Amino acid sequence: MILFAVVLLSVFQIVELLVLGNKTVVCYGGPGTYTGVDRYNQIGSWNQTYHPADPQQIHVSWISDGKAFTVQFSTMDPIKRSTLVYWSDDEDENETIEGGQNWEFIDGGIAKHSQFMHTLASNRLYPSTLYEYKVITIDNKDKSHVSNTFELHTPDLDQSTSFKFIATGDVGVVNAVSMPIFKQLAKSHDYDFVAIMGDQGYDLADFNGTKGDEYMNFAQEFYATVPILTTAGNHESAYNFSHYKNRFDLLPYKQSDFSDAMQYSINYKSLHLISFATEVFFYGSPEQIQTSLNWLEQDLIKATRQRSSVPWIAVIGHRPLYCSILSNPDCAENAERIRFGFDQQLGLETLMTKYNVDAYICGHKHNYERTFPVRNNTLLTTSYHNPPSFFQVITGNAGNYEGPDQFDNTSVLPDWLGHRFQGYGFSTVQVSHHHFDLHHYETNIDGTLGKLQDHVRVSKTPSHVNKQKIV
Ligand SMILES: *[C@@H]1O[C@H](CO)[C@@H](O)[C@H](O)[C@H]1NC(C)=O
Ligand SMILES: *[C@@H]1O[C@H](CO)[C@@H](O)[C@H](O)[C@H]1NC(C)=O
Ligand SMILES: *[C@@H]1O[C@H](CO)[C@@H](O)[C@H](O)[C@H]1NC(C)=O
Ligand SMILES: *[C@@H]1O[C@H](CO)[C@@H](O)[C@H](O)[C@H]1NC(C)=O
Ligand SMILES: *[C@@H]1O[C@H](CO)[C@@H](O)[C@H](O)[C@H]1NC(C)=O
Ligand SMILES: *[C@@H]1O[C@H](CO)[C@@H](O)[C@H](O)[C@H]1NC(C)=O
Ligand SMILES: *[C@@H]1O[C@H](CO)[C@@H](O)[C@H](O)[C@H]1NC(C)=O
Ligand SMILES: [Fe+2]
Repeated sequence: MILFAVVLLSVFQIVELLVLGNKTVVCYGGPGTYTGVDRYNQIGSWNQTYHPADPQQIHVSWISDGKAFTVQFSTMDPIKRSTLVYWSDDEDENETIEGGQNWEFIDGGIAKHSQFMHTLASNRLYPSTLYEYKVITIDNKDKSHVSNTFELHTPDLDQSTSFKFIATGDVGVVNAVSMPIFKQLAKSHDYDFVAIMGDQGYDLADFNGTKGDEYMNFAQEFYATVPILTTAGNHESAYNFSHYKNRFDLLPYKQSDFSDAMQYSINYKSLHLISFATEVFFYGSPEQIQTSLNWLEQDLIKATRQRSSVPWIAVIGHRPLYCSILSNPDCAENAERIRFGFDQQLGLETLMTKYNVDAYICGHKHNYERTFPVRNNTLLTTSYHNPPSFFQVITGNAGNYEGPDQFDNTSVLPDWLGHRFQGYGFSTVQVSHHHFDLHHYETNIDGTLGKLQDHVRVSKTPSHVNKQKIV
């Protein structure tokens, strides 16, 4: 049982008292509170002092299928130019990329905290290769600044072979219980990307935007090694999601015909992954909601045309369409709003069922839940073989200052609920042409890997995929 007490220490510093069992720990790092040191963020470079022209907050994302990637980083001062240098054991020469995009990002707070953001992209990657890379900046006095060296691996060329990705969400800069494991998994090169279902840093815009810098540096070892594909959560809503849009400008939205990082899609082997901004239903105008849904439908039409070669369609978003804490508005009217929109006609579920999406993965609730194949709040089947509708997984329990969300034990459990787990953890997904396997692992409170808490295997036959193409 976890309780919170909020103590106002000064105008700007709020300290959470987190009661874990019978131990009270002072916990900094929630919205509006300073970042503190805890056992999960001692390692890493979040509190390193950077020269204003040093590259920091390095993170990478895929543009497509593991053949092209983008690296994004920040400098606090303007610079003359930057270079991405990468190499592998198989090649004699280093590849260099110059001439990326640079822009100034000014936080919306009163300090107008400014930084310069840079992206550099390469579309010349070889398959099945372990690369090393670094970024070099040249400052206005022609002095060069070199980042640490990071590793990045590319998948093999065979589109039908399986690959794995990490699926998680709601990651703070303190009490980020799973981050030590993520940094270990990054080194293993077993995972081709990480899907983060929103709410990072708590909050990126805090303290004139400096908490966002801390978070991105804290996550750097992970995000610079495992390409990230993310979505915006309610904790990123400040200044019209400007921190999210600027810090994750590397996401492949331009290649997906969307106007900013709020929505995009990518093909990765047998998977078409779509990132949809559920926050538009809460912060957007009716016109913006319509724009988001129109884009989604166009993207789903394209995905349907290529379904024989790319059979799986998964959507990532921040908020759940279904959750079992029925006394909470997020599991009642808010979930319903995302499913069918305001007019009970057009929402995320409307389009996901029309185009036979296989899986919806989200966060927002800080626990794990898996539904059976479901539609309109109704259980369709408990089988995951050739399922007639999508299933949903909430995996928002990576760890942040709030701790896990408590299940309420008084209400009757909905019949569409397959499994739920209260505690810290994260998911992994393995995708091949015929199977989609999701595992959920517990993270122990000491930041080590715990027990397997759930496994579901979805399987589809070619004739089922053919049926899914009929809209
Ligand atoms: C705190 O809880 C642990 C078990 O969780 C117990 O062994 C210990 O005696 C408790 N300490 C106090 C002071 O209640
Ligand atoms: C960060 O580093 C500075 C300088 O070394 C130190 O004074 C400060 O206590 C550190 N803060 C945290 C939260 O570790
Ligand atoms: C490539 O860069 C690495 C790391 O800086 C360096 O050790 C190596 O000598 C470079 N190789 C070439 C061919 O420039
Ligand atoms: C933001 O910056 C202003 C001006 O420097 C400062 O007065 C204020 O305390 C800062 N706000 C926070 C929350 O740190
Ligand atoms: C917020 O950003 C969106 C683009 O993501 C834009 O369409 C909208 O006009 C912006 N809203 C405001 C109030 O600036
Ligand atoms: C969902 O089910 C309700 C009854 O529970 C029904 O009124 C509504 O029309 C259904 N909506 C859709 C889109 O099927
Ligand atoms: C509900 O049940 C779970 C599992 O039995 C337990 O861990 C949790 O503390 C309970 N929640 C509440 C609010 O009592
Ligand atoms: Fe959230």
